[in-house]
Amino acid sequence: MKFFIDTANLEQIREAHKLGVLDGVTTNPSLMAKENIRGEEACRRHYIDICRIVEGDVSAEVIATDFEGMVREGEELAALDPHIVVKIPCTAEGIRAVTYFSAKGIRTNCTLVFSVGQALLAAKAGATYVSPFVGRLDDISEDGVALVAHIVRVYRTYGFRTQVLAASIRHTHHIIQCMDAGADVVTCPLNAIMGLLKHPLTDSGLKQFLADHARVNQG
Ligand code: G3P
Repeated sequence: MKFFIDTANLEQIREAHKLGVLDGVTTNPSLMAKENIRGEEACRRHYIDICRIVEGDVSAEVIATDFEGMVREGEELAALDPHIVVKIPCTAEGIRAVTYFSAKGIRTNCTLVFSVGQALLAAKAGATYVSPFVGRLDDISEDGVALVAHIVRVYRTYGFRTQVLAASIRHTHHIIQCMDAGADVVTCPLNAIMGLLKHPLTDSGLKQFLADHARVNQG
């Protein structure tokens, strides 16, 4: 299972990378805006900066919503670095663009996926990744993890090679649930990744080990 961080913040990417367990990065226009990155040129420089930190797939999203615009932007993004994966919304124009990129050998991440039907079309179009948004479904009282499990089941039944990338992860428990559901990748905020490490018995056990060591090594 691959582990991506879902942020455009370079410090957070560096921090996760230092752990040695990071396989990639996902970004989106909202995450780029949160870092106050403005204009096409600044965005491109930022993607290159991210690629220099992480030797893994970096999803960079197109802003255009029409096929021709997505193709133009996607080709420019893909040319920035071999690790760039072109992120494309799951719309009719987006599915056309995924088909186009797939034929050209350019990798894609089909995003904003909220149903098995959308995931089916993304896989048929040859997407490298499909991104079901777990947290946003939970927000409207649907079951985001159940969608991940359903997509995994359908893809395995038919042998689709598209990888299921669980996105919109809000907390540590989502990560575990998506692992259980068979997700190929989970992309998470840094606090959810660090949350995996937290256990009170680890903290109290370490405290005890250090206290015992100090007691017999005093003087
Ligand atoms: O990867 C998609 C993700 O960034 C969306 O997360 O928390 O805005 O629903 P969220």
